Amino acid sequence: MSVQSISSEELQNVFAVGAGNEQIRNWCATLEAGQVIYFPRTPVPIPPADLETLLAGSQTDSRLHKNIAYKPNRDELTGVDEKTSPPEAVRELHAIMRRYSASVEEFLSRFLAPYQKRWTLDYASYRPIEEQGRDLSTRRRNDLLHTDAFPTRPTKGWRILRFFHNIHPTRTRDWVTGEPFAKVVGHFAPGKLDLPQPDGALAHVGKGIAQSVGLGKLVPQWKRTPYDEFMMQLHNTMKEDSAFQESCVREEFQFAPGSSWMVYTETVPHAVLAGQYALEQTFLVDPAAMVTPESAPVAVLEKMAGARLV
Ligand code: SIN
Ligand code: FE
Repeated sequence: MSVQSISSEELQNVFAVGAGNEQIRNWCATLEAGQVIYFPRTPVPIPPADLETLLAGSQTDSRLHKNIAYKPNRDELTGVDEKTSPPEAVRELHAIMRRYSASVEEFLSRFLAPYQKRWTLDYASYRPIEEQGRDLSTRRRNDLLHTDAFPTRPTKGWRILRFFHNIHPTRTRDWVTGEPFAKVVGHFAPGKLDLPQPDGALAHVGKGIAQSVGLGKLVPQWKRTPYDEFMMQLHNTMKEDSAFQESCVREEFQFAPGSSWMVYTETVPHAVLAGQYALEQTFLVDPAAMVTPESAPVAVLEKMAGARLV
């Protein structure tokens, strides 16, 4: 079973008794082992007025029918066309996303207490688009099983933790997940994918090209570490390998309306098949803060490569 479900009562009990630490460490270890932590009722409820605005706005205003991102470090909202959207609506959406981001971080500082906030609060997003049948290029498709990697923002080994909330009033958000990280890596490398190397050949070539055309400073993706290079290639290779997509072992989950879930998406292969209206907050977590540091993908890959990759 790769989903661990936690009820509101269980959560309250653990938070209430100071002796919750042992249980909280176990939940961290569960997450690090590649399971999805599922809250049938979200522990981060959003104010009813905010919920109403999000659902009403995206139904009636096509300009808000996009993926909206909130960048907490700059307190910036993107994905909204500021020229055509009423300033009032943009301000309101900005405030809603700011509140959502802060409340998820507040919850996770308690739920992930063993990490002691050794993370960077990354972007939050609002996903109002129906996921079923989206017309996207292969590499951008989220209905193909994949592990996450950021093309322009290398994490240098920091982990990608995502906290989701299905705010659709009646419909589930339908996911599939795949096999454990080490197993998936073993499926592709070596063979379809080079094993990660301390001075990754591809990263090297990329750097060379960028420098020779004078883009060294302008193209941040060339600053990828060998770790990031491998993770990016893994993401692309998984999505582009149709035989793998058809034959790989997969488990299906339907996340209920009003539920939340969190998962390390750079290691757990996942895809969203259907669903609409979700909120999400990303954290980049220091792999050294793990309860089981040996489970971090950078540790798994460095062991395979027999060398440092970041
Ligand atoms: C993804 O990270 O691949 C998409 C997940 C979702 O939006 O439910
Ligand atoms: Fe993803």
